[in-house]
Amino acid sequence: MTDVISFDTHQQHIWIHGERPPAPLRFDEATGIQHVYGHREAMEVMGDPITFSSDFQRLFPAEFKFGKELTDGNMVRMDPPGHTKLRKIVNRAFTPRLVADLEPHIVTLTNELLDEVGDADRVDLVDAFAYPLPIIVIAELLGVPPSDRDWFKQLMRTELYSSRDALLDFESEVERRLADIRQVRAYLAEHAAERRHTPRGDLLTLLVEAEVDGERLSDDQVVNFANLLLIAGHITTTSLIGNTVLVLADNPAQAARIRADRTLVPGAIEESLRMYPPFQRILRATMRDTELGGHEIPRDRLVSVWLGAANRDESVFSDPHVFDPARDPKPHLAWGRGAHFCLGTPLSRLEGRIALNILFDRYPKLRIDPERPPTFLPSPDFTSVRELPVVLR
Ligand code: HEM
Repeated sequence: MTDVISFDTHQQHIWIHGERPPAPLRFDEATGIQHVYGHREAMEVMGDPITFSSDFQRLFPAEFKFGKELTDGNMVRMDPPGHTKLRKIVNRAFTPRLVADLEPHIVTLTNELLDEVGDADRVDLVDAFAYPLPIIVIAELLGVPPSDRDWFKQLMRTELYSSRDALLDFESEVERRLADIRQVRAYLAEHAAERRHTPRGDLLTLLVEAEVDGERLSDDQVVNFANLLLIAGHITTTSLIGNTVLVLADNPAQAARIRADRTLVPGAIEESLRMYPPFQRILRATMRDTELGGHEIPRDRLVSVWLGAANRDESVFSDPHVFDPARDPKPHLAWGRGAHFCLGTPLSRLEGRIALNILFDRYPKLRIDPERPPTFLPSPDFTSVRELPVVLR
């Protein structure tokens, strides 16, 4: 194991390569954050949205909060019953069928991006492929014209390639992110307004038209949900593709097995997500005094659930540091759990499966470039390759 080790710059948080957190829970006096590492405890937190609220912003000082116009419709920060209602409406538009129908298009896009690589022997797989693919898919799904793709890509890079930890340095983070988010919002708002007058066959149109019990989404809700899809949907899938290529390079015997038996591809994707979840942690805020894993936790405490740690909990996963594409069952938490379980799971799984199969088909000798080691996103919130130089032939 050489490359993946670089992920581990935050050893206190990430249970990786045999290191273990001291206990399933740890309270950090300095920051006032309750850290959660155990699988059982993580499931408990995510399974109880009434006690562990996703609206953790209320614990931040007023000047650091996003206003309602930026949060209404951002379902990942909402609690039931508002969250349940919004998710129902959104589910009317963002259906499994809509995603499944994208398969031929994603195959075409994948081949087009790889065609652009031409005869080059060496390439940064993130830059050439794993980064553009998911953002193009979501942008097109929403109805963003191809001519605006590059502008979007650029904006998304500034948002996510930050080295700062948004939680500990949120003053400058919030300011910077607000400026970016406002630009994207204004753009999406213009397009959503246009769809109300001139419907098209895209997701933005479906969102403005989606209705449950006579209720539709407001303009702010459509825009913020579309913005959430853009942010939540692209970097994670980039990570999934890049991390999986890397973990396969570190496990050549398993890689050969998967190449030979493609029914193992979905299992390989889930196992990669288990070991290297793109979102490393999710946050909650306690709504009342409670108890977790035998510890008292008071009301109004910020709770940080470390998914990578929970995914290597030995009480749930045997040999947790071993990559096993045939692992069964695999109750990993990379997609979250409970009310907020990732809405983009079918899309990401589809993109990951197509990407891996086509990479296998086109490049039988694909390997990590021995002269240029991969780099990783510096934020502790993500587990993701940033550059993945590979040799294709
Ligand atoms: C490998 C790829 C992905 C991973 C690992 C991932 C991970 C997650 C996680 C952990 C959550 C739960 C957050 C929480 O409980 O606070 C979540 C929620 C969400 N994800 Fe994903 N995601 C991925 C891809 C996508 C894609 C492609 C989309 C959209 C196209 C998407 C859209 C969403 C949305 C809308 C939510 C909020 C759901 C809710 O609050 O009810 N995700 N995701």
